[in-house]
Amino acid sequence: MTDDDSAVPETDEWDADAYDDQHSYVHQYGGSVLELLDPEPGERILDVGCGTGHLTAEIAEHGATVHGIDASAEMIQGAREQYPALSVEQADARRFEVEEPFDAVFSNATLHWIPDEDHDDVLASLSDALVPGGRFVAEMGGTGNVEAIVEAATAELAEHGYEAHPLWYFPGIHEYTPRLAAHGFEPRCAVLFDRPTELDGAEGIHDWLGMFGDSLLGEVPDSELSAAVEGVADRLREEMYDPDRDVWVADYRRLRFVAVKE
Ligand code: BEZ
Repeated sequence: MTDDDSAVPETDEWDADAYDDQHSYVHQYGGSVLELLDPEPGERILDVGCGTGHLTAEIAEHGATVHGIDASAEMIQGAREQYPALSVEQADARRFEVEEPFDAVFSNATLHWIPDEDHDDVLASLSDALVPGGRFVAEMGGTGNVEAIVEAATAELAEHGYEAHPLWYFPGIHEYTPRLAAHGFEPRCAVLFDRPTELDGAEGIHDWLGMFGDSLLGEVPDSELSAAVEGVADRLREEMYDPDRDVWVADYRRLRFVAVKE
């Protein structure tokens, strides 16, 4: 994600192919939040952070009219290639305006990429994008998400004179539901839960850091990067790697909520 308007750090440039090949769990786990959305035929639904379009396409399969937005041009291009019939566009959720409001807004694994200080803009524009009574169904990283990974990266970098700067926003229920309410949403349910997430293969954590770790490892010069990644992996191996199954199990925690526009 590199454009100036992007709601995520400029250092994160998404590789849509790697995202699909190695990180398919992002939309696979999104399946159950889609059940919570329960799209109905004929509904107009906005998918915020549609990525390469997998969940957007599933929403469309329910007979809903869906429009996907994503801050990343690479992701939108990937969605267009895989699902040419889908309606998607590159757009910034903080400033998104619609001509005809939607019946529901859906978002999976996106909102945590938007810095804390920008969430009021996002919630204001998503509230404006909904009809009265429309629902906002979302899942994002919640308090404590990837804490062990952040701690390991912080310690590894400190040992070599660098600092990790995680930019994600992982709120808890008590923090986020008042923000929803302040923008005219009635929170109907909110749950914070551990969702250990499997990263396949002996290099699973290395791939994860390669895909998502720019804000953690950004200070490390290219010449030291693979040693730093190996150092982070070494710190996490005992806790997170299961050699019998050849998977890393990352310490994901999710905040999932349904809120209705009053
Ligand atoms: C998440 O989905 O929780 C996540 C993904 C990448 C980086 C940080 C968190």
